[in-house]
Amino acid sequence: MCGIVGIVGRGPVASRLVDALRRLEYRGYDSAGIATICEGRMDRRRAEGKLFNLEKKLDAEPLPGTIGIAHTRWATHGVPNETNAHPHFVAGVAVVHNGIIENFSELKDELLAEGAVFESQTDTEVVAHLLAKYTRQGMDHREAMLAMLNRVSGAYALVVMFEDDPDTIMAARFGPPLAIGHGRGEMFLGSDAIALSPFTNEITYLVDGDCAIMTHKGVEIIDYEGKLLKRQSQISQATAFMVDKGNHRHFMEKEIYEQPEIISHALGNYIDFAAHTVKKNDTAIDFGKVSGLAIAACGTAYLSGLIGKYWFERYARLPVEIDVASEFRYRELPLSPSQAALFISQSGETADTLASLRYCKDQGLKIGAVVNVRESTIAREADAIFPILAGPEIGVASTKAFTCQLAVLAALAIGAGRARGTVNADDEKAMVKHLAEMPRIMSRVLNDIQPEIEGLSRELSRFKDVLYLGRGTSFPLAMEGALKLKEISYIHAEGYAAGELKHGPIALIDENMPVIVIAPHDRFFEKTVSNMQEVAARGGRIIFITDEKGAAASKLPTMATIALPNVDEIIAPMIFSLPIQLLAYHTAVFMGTDVDQPRNLAKSVTVE
Ligand code: F6R
Repeated sequence: MCGIVGIVGRGPVASRLVDALRRLEYRGYDSAGIATICEGRMDRRRAEGKLFNLEKKLDAEPLPGTIGIAHTRWATHGVPNETNAHPHFVAGVAVVHNGIIENFSELKDELLAEGAVFESQTDTEVVAHLLAKYTRQGMDHREAMLAMLNRVSGAYALVVMFEDDPDTIMAARFGPPLAIGHGRGEMFLGSDAIALSPFTNEITYLVDGDCAIMTHKGVEIIDYEGKLLKRQSQISQATAFMVDKGNHRHFMEKEIYEQPEIISHALGNYIDFAAHTVKKNDTAIDFGKVSGLAIAACGTAYLSGLIGKYWFERYARLPVEIDVASEFRYRELPLSPSQAALFISQSGETADTLASLRYCKDQGLKIGAVVNVRESTIAREADAIFPILAGPEIGVASTKAFTCQLAVLAALAIGAGRARGTVNADDEKAMVKHLAEMPRIMSRVLNDIQPEIEGLSRELSRFKDVLYLGRGTSFPLAMEGALKLKEISYIHAEGYAAGELKHGPIALIDENMPVIVIAPHDRFFEKTVSNMQEVAARGGRIIFITDEKGAAASKLPTMATIALPNVDEIIAPMIFSLPIQLLAYHTAVFMGTDVDQPRNLAKSVTVE
């Protein structure tokens, strides 16, 4: 949530700041702003909406200056307009901020009582006012920064510039990430290393409670008492290559079609294609010895974890406790150091997932991170990293990260089963063979179903509500289908366990609510078909996503039947993800929404 960047440069910085912001737009895109200092004068440009609007302003009114900070916003306090856009200026102080200042209203009351005048509705502005107040009281900039940091509470990445010091940018981290980039005679900072990748690959990551003072000469990192800290820099693998859409209309479409290739790359890390075995897991987590697993994640990553739970329990006979991270972190779940915990996150920065990780760490559990961004905070705080190797995912709606998370979890569950003696060599070989065949089947499915799904999406786009049903691993998939549809097409959708239908949702069934039933011809098929009967008997329209066997076995009338190839249970969730993703994508395209950057969302959620 919110992207931050800052440069103490040798030449003009404005265009480089905008370039870096473009790489951070996934963190928020409802307004953007930039401030620089030139010849002793600090100036800013801010614009509501996408970065493009800020660029237009900068074209019309360029900002010179060799030092600057910039921000792309995902609104928390105050509507997304120009006044609430960062940087916030108060008496020669400029501030950009990612996160939430939790005690802002108490601080604001205090500042208002002292005569401060607030321009915006943001929590951020209190930071600028506090800094201005402490400087007025005679503190130097460093003292003012530390005094401010000792007053604010919450989760924040803060970056500050003072008009009368054109050589220094100060920053602090408590929660959301901040990376310092080391250049030659120049210094950079940003919300992630990718933002800085065109400028440098030498990165120092700040940790919670760090305050950085950055000048042309380098960076000094201190704690909130002013004590000097040592932080190692590292060479980042983040690439300066700006991913493009290729021949696709949207990143989401590109990412859907990348899946066969990417998933085979991801699997290569976990399975031996020649021997048909899962590679030995030599991480800090010994799945053969743990007494159970705890899993926490958010959104789509949570739903992949839920499918992982079915696999770990069935194949490795490992009990799994899973919850959405925003609940997990506060449940005070009794855990034992004999258990291990897995945290699934594409970005590796999700605040609730990180807080759940820290809870488990405090309970003495070994921590595994199933992440896409290997340099992320969640990865860095884990004992074992299980990379999903999906490559940068730009579309806000997660697609390839979901199927890669599934592929990794499937391999880990089979490996855990082998280690625990619950999966024998023949079963392992059979399941690994199915995983190895998966990329080829995915390619075929993507080719074959496209025209049918496009036609169906046109029809679906006319409805206001959609219900998704599934059993077993198709239940989390039903929830994922509903999540995908609602987040990019804004059609209301719910995913239910098919068996729950008659416990409430059946009351909703009529001809105005299509029911999408996800049912491969597996051991639950007959039961799901009975639930479909109940829908059909009440005039409900069914979109049946099944396989060839399932299509042949069901005689019920449907609005559409999508018959995928017959596949083994272990790969069905990945294969059945494809029609679900394409259906959401094409429906959104028909409805004309902003598919890659849907309203109100952000790719990286670093606030609770
Ligand atoms: C939905 C989606 C989100 C994310 C969730 C967690 O398409 O992408 O639900 O899955 O915000 O994000 P990460 O995986 O970065 O922790």
